[in-house]
Amino acid sequence: VPTITRTGGAEFDPAPIGVFDSGVGGLTVLNALRRALPGESFLYLGDTARLPYGTKSAATVQRYAVQAAQILVDRGVKALVIACNTASAVALDALQRRYADLPVFGVVEPGARAAVAAPASRVVVLATESTINGGAYQRALLGLRPALRVAGRSCPLLVALAEEGRQSGELVRLAVEDYLRGLLPLPGVALSGSRVEPLTVLLGCTHFPVFRPVIEALLGGAGHRVTVVDSAATTAAVVAAELAAGRVGVAPPEAATRIELLATDGAARFRRVGRYFLDEPIAAVELVDL
Ligand code: DGL
Repeated sequence: VPTITRTGGAEFDPAPIGVFDSGVGGLTVLNALRRALPGESFLYLGDTARLPYGTKSAATVQRYAVQAAQILVDRGVKALVIACNTASAVALDALQRRYADLPVFGVVEPGARAAVAAPASRVVVLATESTINGGAYQRALLGLRPALRVAGRSCPLLVALAEEGRQSGELVRLAVEDYLRGLLPLPGVALSGSRVEPLTVLLGCTHFPVFRPVIEALLGGAGHRVTVVDSAATTAAVVAAELAAGRVGVAPPEAATRIELLATDGAARFRRVGRYFLDEPIAAVELVDL
């Protein structure tokens, strides 16, 4: 039974919302969540000891996701957000069954919604190997709009570059260019505008939004009609709407808030790199063991 607090006339459960990812990538989702829910507190876990999730089997990722979620549940969170596409794709159902009393949200369905809201009828999903090979985005997108043409590209190196704090520079440009090869005529060999079909690029990994400027520069360079979308804002909107409609309610913006960060390894590295994903310096990261 949630503890109910009253602030400014509103009733809400002051417990934090639990958020987890394999590393710092999910901080892009946390950022959108705190904008959509400015009165809420958050407890974030980056499972940095076992990153990357995206190259591992579905069974392993499911096991990791359950352990990560359990740490947050043990600390009393009132809702869970799986801020990792790889884990959402293989573990959302299992976590919803296991924590039937808690609202549990994934990022794949909201990401697919962001993509179908864009004008193009062609979508390319950039994600981890596991997410692409499992086909979760392909299914979610075609379920929302059966006429879409959907292609997937797995981009595992981008997770490593993001975790290293590299968001731009020659190495990033080369990696992005290699993964995007063949999607559109390269800048400099542009076709006339009418012959180039619009394209939506869906960033199906929470580590990838930091590469948006590089991706846009490469694909938009020749005047192509490219829209780059990710799941952070749409996930935050779903969480805000469902909490407001449900039993736990939403804390009013003036409520006292806290953001606590946990990692399973490399607290100093998490602080150093995480600031680029959270858009602010990180003061403390608590190390936890799974
Ligand atoms: N950030 C995660 C995702 O959204 C996974 C990165 C990884 O650990 O491979 O898929």
